[in-house]
Amino acid sequence: MLRICIIGYGKMGHEVERVARERGHSIPLIVDRNNHNEINSDKFKNVDVAIEFTSPQIAKQNVQACFDAGVPVVCGTTGWNDQLSDMIEKARQGRGTLFYASNFSIGVNIFFKLNQLAASILSRVEDYKPSIIEIHHTQKLDAPSGTAISLANIINAHMPSYSGWSLLPNNITDDKIPIQAVREGAVPGTHMVTFESDQDIIRLTHEAKSRKGFALGAVLAAEFIYNRKGFYNMDNLINFD
Ligand SMILES: NC(=O)c1ccc[n+]([C@@H]2O[C@H](COP(=O)([O-])OP(=O)(O)OC[C@H]3O[C@@H](n4cnc5c(N)ncnc54)[C@H](OP(=O)(O)O)[C@@H]3O)[C@@H](O)[C@H]2O)c1
Repeated sequence: MLRICIIGYGKMGHEVERVARERGHSIPLIVDRNNHNEINSDKFKNVDVAIEFTSPQIAKQNVQACFDAGVPVVCGTTGWNDQLSDMIEKARQGRGTLFYASNFSIGVNIFFKLNQLAASILSRVEDYKPSIIEIHHTQKLDAPSGTAISLANIINAHMPSYSGWSLLPNNITDDKIPIQAVREGAVPGTHMVTFESDQDIIRLTHEAKSRKGFALGAVLAAEFIYNRKGFYNMDNLINFD
């Protein structure tokens, strides 16, 4: 049983709390906007691990506070990629323990592997053009989603004629993967990857039915890192071999 601090008590924070309790863990501290200074408290230093789902503006500060307190942190906040690489580097140097995933759902991580396979095969056989559509609830702050960016990076790595992505409706050059971000209703997260040639269309879709899959992945990540040092991601948690 772990003592888990939840940082960010919004939609994901509540779901993480439910899943963590179901798995027998305790939640001695929840840090949200109204009690943010408790991240510097002794109570915080005494938890085994923190799980952070907040906003791109505060994520780096929260992860740094975890490093300073010696608390391993699972972070799922998206939209702060420019600063994230610094924190990954610090963790790799042993200055903190960080598990980061743009998407904690096990199904999405299998979906990443399927897209990797599709991209590497299609780059060899035909002139297939990739494109991505992501659909999320209207309160989502960042666009495109971290998951759509991860998908674009995976496809880029396996289709040499592409480098980078561009968010529609911005102008787009032939070497960029177009990403369309749709915001509607309460959609927890849908990602659709299309590979289109003159002859046909291949489409792979992942549709989250709720936030539970993300929360479960984050709690499994906490169980994985609480006694480790360094940087980890979903490839360390799921054995694809
Ligand atoms: N990696 C994944 O698998 C995954 C899955 C789902 C979501 N996400 C990401 O996780 C993040 C959170 O998503 P969510 O749906 O839970 O959002 P949310 O419902 O808006 O919750 C965010 C929580 O963080 C709090 N917060 C914001 N700024 C803060 C600050 N300066 N200090 C302390 N607390 C602060 C918010 O408080 P207020 O309400 O007072 O602002 C709110 O309680 C987003 O970046 C989202 O894209 C990742």
